[in-house]
Order: sequence, then structure tokens, then C-alpha cells
Amino acid sequence: MEGRILAANWKMNPPTKEEALKLAAEMEGLLEGLPLTKLLFPPFVYLPLLKLRGIELGAQDVFYEEKGAFTGEVSPLMLKSVGATWVIVGHSERRNVIGETDEIVRRKAEAALKAGLRVIYCVGEKLPDREAGRHLQVVEEQLSYVPVSENVVVAYEPVWAIGTGRNATPEQIEEMHAFIKAKVGLKVLYGGSVKERNARELAAVPNVDGFLVGGASLRPREFRKIGEALAE
Ligand code: PGA
Repeated sequence: MEGRILAANWKMNPPTKEEALKLAAEMEGLLEGLPLTKLLFPPFVYLPLLKLRGIELGAQDVFYEEKGAFTGEVSPLMLKSVGATWVIVGHSERRNVIGETDEIVRRKAEAALKAGLRVIYCVGEKLPDREAGRHLQVVEEQLSYVPVSENVVVAYEPVWAIGTGRNATPEQIEEMHAFIKAKVGLKVLYGGSVKERNARELAAVPNVDGFLVGGASLRPREFRKIGEALAE
């Protein structure tokens, strides 16, 4: 892995393959030359259509079984065979909207590693946990499921900061990233409303090894600026 990590999580966007191809091409051009490990996580269906110079592809989720009667699921080997080298597991939208448990997330990470994929393992507390001062405890519990491997990167994504425009403060990030590093010794990305306007400040926080970017990754020029902040 070269330098820090700049990861684009497109979530369930954009709405058509034509738009996905156009967006990816713009991103490819704009990110060229940035000395970072650049990752794109598009929806599953766009993976086989994309082949990008200097940007590695990943999937936003994966199932933990290798094959069989699991309607709607996608296996690690299927992802590999269409060009993915990374997967995200445990994103808060999957934990909280779909109902995935820590145990499920752990199984997904292990299956992905077994297939030779790299993993971004997401953790993060909800607002009531932060307000009650339980954030470290909650994240510590989530971390106890993380397989410690050189092929795993943790993403700290406080749930209250995702898609809200309200990023965690540098102090909050510094505390949590140091805590995560002390527990598992892995690289740690920050995610949650990373934008052009806060990228420089957040990139300067100790122990920030990169960003996992949602909304702003759909705006290639802004995404480039975020990458520049990380590369400084
Ligand atoms: P956001 O999403 O940048 O839109 O807040 C981050 C994420 O969910 O990975």
C-alpha cells in the first residue's frame, strides 16, 4: 500500500451504469499522480464494468459463505473474479439499517481474508453512546471481533457523523484513533462527513491513515481536493 488511503464509498449511487462509467472516468483522471492508495467501492453491479488506472476496486459488502443457497448474496470469490481486491464490512448502514451483528461482520471479514481480499472493517458509536461517554467502550466491543491481519484496515465512522455534514472533531478523532491503534495495531481511516472544507484539518490529526468518503466521493473535483489534503 502506497502512502495514506483515500477510499470512495459510493453507497447506492449513481443510478445508472452510464453515470457510473462517467463518474469513474472523471475520478480516474483527477486522482492521477496523487501519492496515495486510492480505492473505489461502487455498487456490486458496476464492479465488472470498471477497470481504472491507479485505483483499486472493492465491494461495499460480501457474504461469508463460499457458495450455495443464499439468495441475493455475493461471495468473496465472485467479487475477486470481477476485479475487486478489497471489501468493506460492518458499515453502519449495514449494521443499523440491515441489522448485521458483530458476529456476522466478523464472519464476513474472515471469509474475505480467506479469499485473499483486503478488508476495511468499520466501527463507530451512535450519538447516545457518545453523549453518555460510552464511545470507547462501544468501539472496544466492536474491535474485539476484528481479525487482526496485515490485510485489515479499520475505519472509525461515528454513526452521528455519517451523511450528516457533522464531522467528528480533531480531538474526538485523535482520541479514538489512538485507542484503536493501541487495541489492534492496525491502520485507521476516518469516515463521516469528510468534505473539501474539513479535509485539511482532519488529515492533520495524528493516527489518521486515510479517509473513507461517502457523499463527497460522488463529486470528483471535491474528492481530488480531499486527496490532496491527505497527500500533503
Ligand atoms: P459520508 O459517508 O462521507 O457521506 O458521511 C461516509 C461513509 O459512510 O463511509
